[in-house]
Amino acid sequence: MKIAVLSRNRHLYSTRRLVEEGLNRGHEVQVIDCLHCSMNITSADPRISYHEEYLEGFDVVVPRIGASVTFYGTAVLRQFEMMGVFPVNESVAITRARDKLRSLQLLARKGLGMPVTGFANKPDNVPELLKMVGGAPVVIKLLQGTQGIGVVLAETRKAAESVIEAFMGLKADILVQEFIKEAGGADIRCFVLGDKVIAAMKRQGAEGEFRSNLHRGGSASLVRITPEERKTAIMAAKAMGLNVAGVDLLRSSRGPLVMEVNSSPGLEGIENATGKNVAGMIINWTEKNHKPWKTRTRGRG
Ligand SMILES: Nc1ncnc2c1ncn2[C@@H]1O[C@H](COP(=O)(O)OP(=O)(O)O)[C@@H](O)[C@H]1O
Ligand SMILES: [Mg+2]
Repeated sequence: MKIAVLSRNRHLYSTRRLVEEGLNRGHEVQVIDCLHCSMNITSADPRISYHEEYLEGFDVVVPRIGASVTFYGTAVLRQFEMMGVFPVNESVAITRARDKLRSLQLLARKGLGMPVTGFANKPDNVPELLKMVGGAPVVIKLLQGTQGIGVVLAETRKAAESVIEAFMGLKADILVQEFIKEAGGADIRCFVLGDKVIAAMKRQGAEGEFRSNLHRGGSASLVRITPEERKTAIMAAKAMGLNVAGVDLLRSSRGPLVMEVNSSPGLEGIENATGKNVAGMIINWTEKNHKPWKTRTRGRG
């Protein structure tokens, strides 16, 4: 196969591993920075030029689009799709996953368990919003946040109101969520590939921290997941239309709850925690599943 890895930085762990495993299996691999791509939008012969050359002959594109370049990155990916190149994750699915509210709505529609979540636009809805999610304690999240930044636990109604009003005063988009105390500061990252969970790890927050993010001092370890957790993770990835997904679950007293579905899950944490060759498995899966013009949506919304 001729593989394009759509990534802004060839030195990132995940990018390096995908390139390495592609080459190991005898493929041709090129890392492409989406911000250096220019495109002609035409129905007859869509093309991408890159450093003054046309990109040609690719069979597969592996998107590793960072949150800060979602808009342009997905446009470039869509152009690959219009050229018939097989995307490991489709542009439409990535766009869905990048919108936290849209994701939660899609998951809810499929009947998947998730923490009760509220969203509102105006500060005069604050008491109502809190009531909707069952009252304090609640978790308040900035929609744009990643790596645990902008995720706040408000233990009392007063604290919750202050934090919500402060965020709203800054015109930040937020959601308010039921706090799942029994998760004990831990979550489960299920790495989904196709219709299987190929690796799973438990992330435990540092002492006294309810956020399990590794960037916030959490630690990761290998975990055995239950059949219900496995099924939930697979259904969540499917609901989003993702072939590769990092599905984050909270273990609650009413079963697994989906917290997030990540369309560009990092490989470093999961490969280190599980000892599995996740990058190699992605390349293997792609060998078996890639076909030209196979995009379900062809970039259609
Ligand atoms: N509703 C919740 N109940 C309990 N813990 C939560 C809840 N929401 C988030 N957390 C904890 O906070 C962490 C960060 O939240 P998350 O929504 O994943 O934000 P980010 O996108 O910044 O990683 C999670 O990994 C989890 O450990
Ligand atoms: Mg997270």
